[in-house]
Amino acid sequence: MEYIQIAIDGPAGAGKSTIAKKIAKCLDITYIDTGAMYRALTYKVLVNNVDIYNEEEIIKLARESDIKFFQENIYLDNQKVNEEIRSIEVNKNVSYVAKIREVRLILVNLQRKIALDQDVIMDGRDIGTHVLPNARLKIFLTASVEERATRRYTELKGKCNDISFNEIKKDIINRDKIDSERKSAPLVKAEDAIVIDTTGLSIDDVVEKIIDLLRGE
Ligand code: CDP
Ligand code: CDP
Repeated sequence: MEYIQIAIDGPAGAGKSTIAKKIAKCLDITYIDTGAMYRALTYKVLVNNVDIYNEEEIIKLARESDIKFFQENIYLDNQKVNEEIRSIEVNKNVSYVAKIREVRLILVNLQRKIALDQDVIMDGRDIGTHVLPNARLKIFLTASVEERATRRYTELKGKCNDISFNEIKKDIINRDKIDSERKSAPLVKAEDAIVIDTTGLSIDDVVEKIIDLLRGE
């Protein structure tokens, strides 16, 4: 039996996870947030005070880690880490961990295993190009950097008072640069992906567009 695979890629703040979650609910399929996996490992690196440039130690941690999803939660070594992986520190460091080739091999392997026996919508940076190259539908979501930073600022302002718009914008630009320029599976649009620029579009507009594409309309 062939399972449905939908790949959503794009830069930070493009709306990937929000949109993917809604589509997963709509179609009753599993949503996999691959960014959360790189974030969980980065959180472990930080908690263990491992230098972010110490690739050998980071690879060792990656090999020893148990990262899994259960009922919309992410677990690192059996500890729920949904909140911890969204910290500013993790934001700042995650792209350095994610550019390590061996780390990617380990996590991509896990991602492909998850997609082996169920219908999935997966979001990340290399899903359409690398993780699920035969996905039924590949979407490359994007939006202007101003809009993406504004979205993240609005989201974080409520939770954290001392965060500035410029700091968020700088973090997004830096992460996009590292993610796009790394050697191993960089952030790039798959040749057969459909680009949706979400600047000025509502979440529901984007969900509707993707559902229409799935229906072949
Ligand atoms: O939500 P946001 O777009 O800010 O980031 P994310 O999807 O949680 O991903 C965090 C980081 O993980 C990205 O900036 C990439 O460095 C890395 N990542 C990756 O390299 N490959 C993926 N498939 C997903 C995320
Ligand atoms: O996963 P990614 O980093 O691509 O983005 P996200 O975390 O899904 O979206 C970032 C923020 O933008 C969320 O607060 C969404 O509610 C918001 N958003 C929006 O305002 N309009 C859209 N068309 C998509 C997302």
